[in-house]
Amino acid sequence: MFDLSTLFQGDRPVPVILDGDPGHDDAIAWVLAKASPKLDIRAVTTCAGNQTLEKTTYNARRICTLLGIDAPIAMGLHHPLFSDPITAGNIHGQSGLDGPALPEPAVPLSDLSAVELMAKVLRESEDKVVIIATGPETNVAALLLAHPELKEKIAGISVMGGGIAYGNWTAAAEFNILVDPEAAEAVFGSGLPVQMCGLDVTEKALIFPEDFQRIRAVGNQVSQIVADWLEFFYRFHREIGYAGAPVHDPCAVASLLRPELFTRQAMHVAIETQGEYCRGCTVGDTSGKLGEDNAICCMNVDRQGFADLLAEAVKFYDGREVPV
Ligand code: RIB
Ligand code: CA
Repeated sequence: MFDLSTLFQGDRPVPVILDGDPGHDDAIAWVLAKASPKLDIRAVTTCAGNQTLEKTTYNARRICTLLGIDAPIAMGLHHPLFSDPITAGNIHGQSGLDGPALPEPAVPLSDLSAVELMAKVLRESEDKVVIIATGPETNVAALLLAHPELKEKIAGISVMGGGIAYGNWTAAAEFNILVDPEAAEAVFGSGLPVQMCGLDVTEKALIFPEDFQRIRAVGNQVSQIVADWLEFFYRFHREIGYAGAPVHDPCAVASLLRPELFTRQAMHVAIETQGEYCRGCTVGDTSGKLGEDNAICCMNVDRQGFADLLAEAVKFYDGREVPV
């Protein structure tokens, strides 16, 4: 099974598309992505998930304005391929990104749809492109279904989603997969290299007050906002019994940049799309009974190394100040 992280260990920046539903942890994943010289962000596309598409798109434009991401931004599909939307306002708030004040968007919204923009980036890229999907995989699936001829321009897909052992929205399913299981089935069944950061690893990527206080002490505008996002996430998760804030989405970026911090296992991941209790479950099989390996699953992380990576990344934004 091809390990996507090997692409990021050279000197040539890797073209990436960021697709997400910001979302506090999507935003922090994008902070990490923009701060790395190993990534060349070619497009940002938004999906419905943590909040409605309109809200996640507004948030994406604010985040890109804050960070100086100057790639085109496009709205994706308004709802999952075959099911009704599910949102997570209980976690991310009514805006989808409650907490610190953010700049109003100073970056335009593309006239293209997310699928059209993704296709354009793939056609025009000299190198194969990595898609980093940190929300429901609706747009990625739609791209694969609408443009099978462009699969050869996709190096692979780094996904935050699923959980081999358990779920977080139901007992069996993690939120991103549950919102659109059919989309996840299309992605994991595409034959493209998939790296999955599921709850098995992201709930070990816990951030504690000493971590976000260290980030706040960096003292630039982005570090203060990232610390506020982390504190918001921490307070919510402490109320529901977590020891710290499980910072899910940045794992889908960090595992590409710093593979040595993550423990991986290749396996076949099947997506359950039926069932009253198990719809959206990611079933991991290493026996070969369900088929050949179709994903490399990150299963553990060096938590301190992950926290150090976040604290280092925000220093990239020293000297940047955007009117809020
Ligand atoms: O289950 C965690 C995932 O759902 C994260 O991507 C978070 O942003 C939400 O989309
Ligand atoms: Ca997300």
